[in-house]
Amino acid sequence: MSEARLEAWLDETRSFEPSQQFAASANAQPSIYVDAAADPVAYWRTQADRLTWTKAPTKTLEWDRPFAKWFGDGTLNAAYNCVDRHVEAGRGEKVAYHWVGDAEGESRTITYADLQKMVAQAANALSEIGVKAGDRVAVYMPMIPEAVVTMLAIVRLGAVHSVIFAGFSAEALASRILDSDCQVVVTADGAFRRGAAAPLKPAVDEALESCPNVRAVLVVRRTGGDVAWVDGRDHWWHDLVERQSDTHTYESFPAEQTLLIMYTSGTTAKPKGIFHTTGGYLTQVATTHYNIFDVKAETDVCWTAADIGWITGHSYIVYGPLVNGVTSVMYEGLPDSGGRDRWWKIIEENKVTILYTAPTTIRTLMKWGHQHPAAHDLSSLRLLGTVGEPINPEAWMWYREHIGSGRCPIVDTWWQTETGAIMISPLPGITSTKPGAAMRALPGIQVDVVDNEGKSVGNGEGGYLVITHPWPSMTRGIYGDPERFKETYWSRFPGVYFAGDGAKRDADGDLWLLGRIDDVMNISGHRLSTTEVEHALVGHRAVAEAAVVGATDETTGQAIVAFVTLKLSAEDAQKDQAGVISELREHVSRTISPIAKPRQIILTPELPKTRSGKIMRRLLRDVAENRPLGDVTTLMDPTVVNSIAVLMSESSGDEE
Ligand code: WT7
Repeated sequence: MSEARLEAWLDETRSFEPSQQFAASANAQPSIYVDAAADPVAYWRTQADRLTWTKAPTKTLEWDRPFAKWFGDGTLNAAYNCVDRHVEAGRGEKVAYHWVGDAEGESRTITYADLQKMVAQAANALSEIGVKAGDRVAVYMPMIPEAVVTMLAIVRLGAVHSVIFAGFSAEALASRILDSDCQVVVTADGAFRRGAAAPLKPAVDEALESCPNVRAVLVVRRTGGDVAWVDGRDHWWHDLVERQSDTHTYESFPAEQTLLIMYTSGTTAKPKGIFHTTGGYLTQVATTHYNIFDVKAETDVCWTAADIGWITGHSYIVYGPLVNGVTSVMYEGLPDSGGRDRWWKIIEENKVTILYTAPTTIRTLMKWGHQHPAAHDLSSLRLLGTVGEPINPEAWMWYREHIGSGRCPIVDTWWQTETGAIMISPLPGITSTKPGAAMRALPGIQVDVVDNEGKSVGNGEGGYLVITHPWPSMTRGIYGDPERFKETYWSRFPGVYFAGDGAKRDADGDLWLLGRIDDVMNISGHRLSTTEVEHALVGHRAVAEAAVVGATDETTGQAIVAFVTLKLSAEDAQKDQAGVISELREHVSRTISPIAKPRQIILTPELPKTRSGKIMRRLLRDVAENRPLGDVTTLMDPTVVNSIAVLMSESSGDEE
């Protein structure tokens, strides 16, 4: 793409009008904003009617800041809402999941009727090993249908799942099992990644050496081969589950029954057990899935390309799509399992209509080149979404042009593990979109951008994102630590929820999320977001990925250090390192301002990423400030950061 076009895209006033063709049949109509604004609590009460309640709630919100209850006197069963009621409505033959394995050609089709039987058997099996309402069950599983079945079986019993991403180490698993005192673990012998079997059970065995309260482990056979076995504790899924009755009578539970715990990193070393409850969480995931992805239950095929080990998988692979009764694709493998065009094959073969993924993945796919998507028929797609980090305009435009062929609306969705469901996003067919902006709070959601003193900023200004009123899927707290909940989210700006993100309102009042504020730098008294500098770097045609940190600097307070991977081949970059670096520094200076010019740019073949694909800025900050490296155990490849440290020590920095 040409520089001139790129410049035009980077212009934040560039905006795409909602497609008229889309608008005519969109689930959400413009009046929704007006109705919700008139009475947000009443709006959410009507949204709760998406669920089938055993006892309909008469109460909507009970707010004892910062503790909320939604639909407090209602009762329901989460699994019934996800599965049984669709079967009862005569939709049992509807496909719930097109499951696609890591290996090409391996797939399973699971209808709602199949799912009902599988969940019933698993619920009966869990009951047999003593799981009852309120118990916590750890789930450490690959992306196989049994993972979804397990989650649904747990909540069907009124128990609580704590899904732990299968890429976590034994130590991380143990600390999470202990923190919420899980007494049962569901896992698999292993997982497939790019054709290779990666064992999982040994990590569970190791973790359980320090978890004496775990009395039962249920193991799905996925990869085959030998596994160590503890008699009396370990049970094969195919022995215990498959002999159970495929019917199960459910009980109903209060709306505020805890549904799930999801651990997420905070600023301290100890992960926080974010927990969500049933009625409010299901209401908001269903509403957002319906309005933002515009799902039509009869025709859409939704693919949320995430792992069920993260909140995105929970809300938009499992609960949102199932409550809405739609068909989803669930994919086990990596983006290049079987080749760099695997994703596009999956879309073509399954006629995916709605694709939802993270900017980091989009940039990877972009780096591989648009010849891959171009070789496949992607005409089934009608809507694209992104989540997880600010998306740079170049990636947004690539997504729009090369994946959405210029016609699919893009929804840039802002939310967090803590918010449970999407909070800020365009609504397709109603809201215009801008490359890199999440645009506006959803109907029923009230946010603000405030300055240091908590005062609302005007258009064209930046500040901190806060959520000013409770929302149904808000976390009910940090498991076992209500004080930390208050302190982390409710103390920075009294009375409102502080998300930890910087944000800007542009001249039109539209919202741009600028990343975590711990990534906001102060250069000579000027506030700059690491994301802004990254956007600029990634906007250069030579750059594949960039991570920017603020390093302490004697003169300027903080100075910018950028770690950059190039699209050029290693040999080409090697030829003229100094030239590339000075060109990039000038480019940033030109794109933002001379104050944004990085002090140092380190060219590196790879950036250190967690197994969930997030760049580990904390480590890069340590590298940039020559500190000893902290915990690297959650990194995908711990050696990457050491080689960057070597490059850093060899870099001369700003000589000017
Ligand atoms: C943080 C939450 C929500 C599922 C995945 C991440 C960042 C998320 C966006 C977006 C800019 C975003 C924020 C947020 N983030 N979505 N569309 N634009 N930033 O969940 O791990 O809890 O992370 O991700 O910084 O605070 P999470």
